[in-house]
Order: sequence, then C-alpha cells, then structure tokens
Amino acid sequence: MDAATWLIQPQGLEVVASMVAELDAGGDTLKLASRWRSKLTDPHLASIAMTAAVARRRARARWPDADRLLFTRHGLEQASDPEVARWRARRLATPDREGAVAVWDVTAGLGADAIAAARAGAEVVAVEHDPARAILLEHNLRAAEVRATVLVDDALDVRVPSGARVHADPARRPGGDRAHHLDDHRPPVGRIIDRFAGRSGLAVTLAPGVDRDDPALGGEVEIEYLQLGDQLLEATAWEGPLRTPGALASATLLPTGEHRVRTDASRELVIAPPGDHLIEVVPAAVRARLHDELGEELGGWRLARHRALLSIDGRPPDSPWYRARPILAVLPAKAAPIRRWLADRDPPPVELVLHGITGDPTRWWREIGRPPRGPQGWRLELIRRDDDAIALVTDAAGPSVSGSGP
Ligand SMILES: C[S@@+](CC[C@H](N)C(=O)[O-])C[C@H]1O[C@@H](n2cnc3c(N)ncnc32)[C@H](O)[C@@H]1O
Repeated sequence: MDAATWLIQPQGLEVVASMVAELDAGGDTLKLASRWRSKLTDPHLASIAMTAAVARRRARARWPDADRLLFTRHGLEQASDPEVARWRARRLATPDREGAVAVWDVTAGLGADAIAAARAGAEVVAVEHDPARAILLEHNLRAAEVRATVLVDDALDVRVPSGARVHADPARRPGGDRAHHLDDHRPPVGRIIDRFAGRSGLAVTLAPGVDRDDPALGGEVEIEYLQLGDQLLEATAWEGPLRTPGALASATLLPTGEHRVRTDASRELVIAPPGDHLIEVVPAAVRARLHDELGEELGGWRLARHRALLSIDGRPPDSPWYRARPILAVLPAKAAPIRRWLADRDPPPVELVLHGITGDPTRWWREIGRPPRGPQGWRLELIRRDDDAIALVTDAAGPSVSGSGP
C-alpha cells in the first residue's frame, strides 16, 4: 500500500514517466533499474516503478490512454481488453426508462470495465478488495477523467442498492494457477450468481472456454463469446434484464460489432462427405454453437459430428462469420498418397493444419515430401471425422476466400 500511495504521488508518477521515456529510447531494463535503485532513497520503490513502466509500455498496444494510467504486471494480465470492455459497457450502461443507470463493478481491478461503463454513461461504483490495487484503480479512474466512486470492500459483502446493475470479473488465476472450475475463481462464480442474480441485471466476465451448461451458472443466462480480430478473448454471462430475451448464447466480432444470437437448443446439421467448399466458422460462433444455424442458412452440412467444420457445394456469400476455401482434392489422411498428389503438381506454399489429428507436424511435413511452406497458398487440412480421417487440400488464396480476414 505504501508503494501504491507513493506511485500515485507526483514523484512516483514522474519516476515512472522518466523510466518509460528511457526504455522508449532503448535503455536496458536491468541497467536502468539498478541506476534508479541507487538514485532513490528506497530501492524497493525503484523496482515497483520499473514494473509499472514496463507494464505501461506493454499496455500501450491495447490501451489508448496507457501513458496516463498505472499498471502492475498481474493487474494488466487480469484486466479486460479495453475494446471488449467498451463493447460490454454498451449493454451494461444502456439507460433504462428513468435515465442513467448505476453499475457496480464489484471486482474492479485496475479499472478497464469501470472506465468503459462510466464513459458509456453509467454512474459507476468500483469495488476492489485489495487496498493497494484500489489506490491504483482510483488513480486510473481520475486519470481517465471519468467520475466513479471507489470502495475497498469484498464483492460478496458489499451492499449494492437494489436498482443497480452488477458486473463481476472474478480472478481466474487466484494464486497464479489457472482456475479450471468456475467455483475456483475468486470470488467463486456460483457465489456471485447466488448473491446478485434475480435483481436488476448481472454480467459476469469469464474465460472463453466456459460452457453455457456449467451448473455453476445456474442455467438462466446468455453467454456471449467475444472475439477480437481472430482471437477469442472472453465470454460474458448476462443474467436477468441484461440477458437478450430467450438467448442461450451469442457471438460478437470486434472491432466491427457483428453480433448473432442463438435461441434454439435443438438444431443439428446432417453429416456428409466434403462438397466443393470447406467452411470454417469463426471461433466465437463455434463456442456459441451457431455453426449449425450458419450451415443451415448456406444449405451446408457438417463433416463430422464432433467437428464444427462445414461443407457446401458452390461459392458461399461473403460473411465475417466464416472463412470459405475451395476444396482442390479429397485424399486419405496418409502420407504416401498426399506426397504423390503433391509431387504430380507444382504446389505453391502449403500450410499444414491438423483438425483433431494428433501427431508431430514436422514428421508429417517430412513424410509428405517437404513441399514449400507458407500460409497464402494451399492448406493441407487433416481432419479427424467420427470413424476415420481425411485430408483436404484447400485453396487459401483462391477467389472465394470470404470473411473479414484478420
Ligand atoms: C480479473 S480482475 C478484474 C479486472 C478488471 N475487470 C479490469 O479490467 O481491470 C479481478 C479483481 O478482483 C479482485 N477480487 C478478487 N476477489 C475479490 C472479492 N472477493 N471482492 C472484491 N474484489 C475481489 C482482485 O483483486 C482483482 O483485482
């Protein structure tokens, strides 16, 4: 706490800014840290400031106002991506009939979600149980020029007014190890749901691997899977008035804000051999189990019960929800026939992609005759189906590669 208090004072802020400038100019982290340790009366403060300087430079890639904010390494790792926080805040802070809403961010960390909710127009209360982190949180809210109240309290004890919406982003690596169950999060997800569900709306930020049917979620939620570019980043469980009526799951693509909702639990496509295009549905839509619905719209089918890979005959329309590649060949998933097929042609760079196939890619590469390597030519897609495996050669650079791309 003493270190956090020092960091937010003019001297602490100046030291961090000077360190950032020196690192920007190419300074060596270890040499700079040692010089600053002898310069400051308390060498421990030099280490703390250097950690904040290094974290700030890392944060710049995603945080537009990083140079005004204070981070710790763990705080930055745990923080929401600002683009995702901005998207989430739009729903969290949507005014109700009476006007502005109150949002209580009960595990506020360094403030990405609290800042986004305040900027979206909510009256924000940011709760954080770690007093040192709460000092940095308060600084960040002020530096971001948003109005919000900070409370140092426990999310499960704090008294939240009945009309307020609640956001929780529980720690997924308490003590350093990844929590595999929702109830190993801090605070445990089941306890958050018990305490805040059935009121004025709850949003819980979770890892994107979360399963909508996890019993800790209590069943009455919409899980929104969020993808930024090609990366599946987070999920949000929406409950109560914040849930889209009837929604089981949804998928969002950022930064464009494409959004699809699944309300139907029973859809399932037929399984059939490959047609002339392979359709790879983007990860957020696969997690939301929207692939069968998308396939149905295209008149397509699945290649296997346990794979979200689809196929159709004919060129599909452009869509950000999938990448489509023309299929050039369907081969057995064995090295010898693939090697012969490639040897009879003059292949452009080939990329090897394993869909549910285990094995050493380097060995595969050797055994198929070491064709030229690269992502923009053909893709050799080895696919585990329900009872066998096949190899597809697809054209990654062909005219009907659709979607928004990375
Ligand atoms: C994943 S981080 C939140 C990150 C935040 N959304 C952001 O963007 O910076 C979780 C935070 O919850 C805090 N926390 C853990 N248990 C808590 C509890 N019982 N009450 C309040 N805060 C808690 C941790 O100290 C940590 O700062």
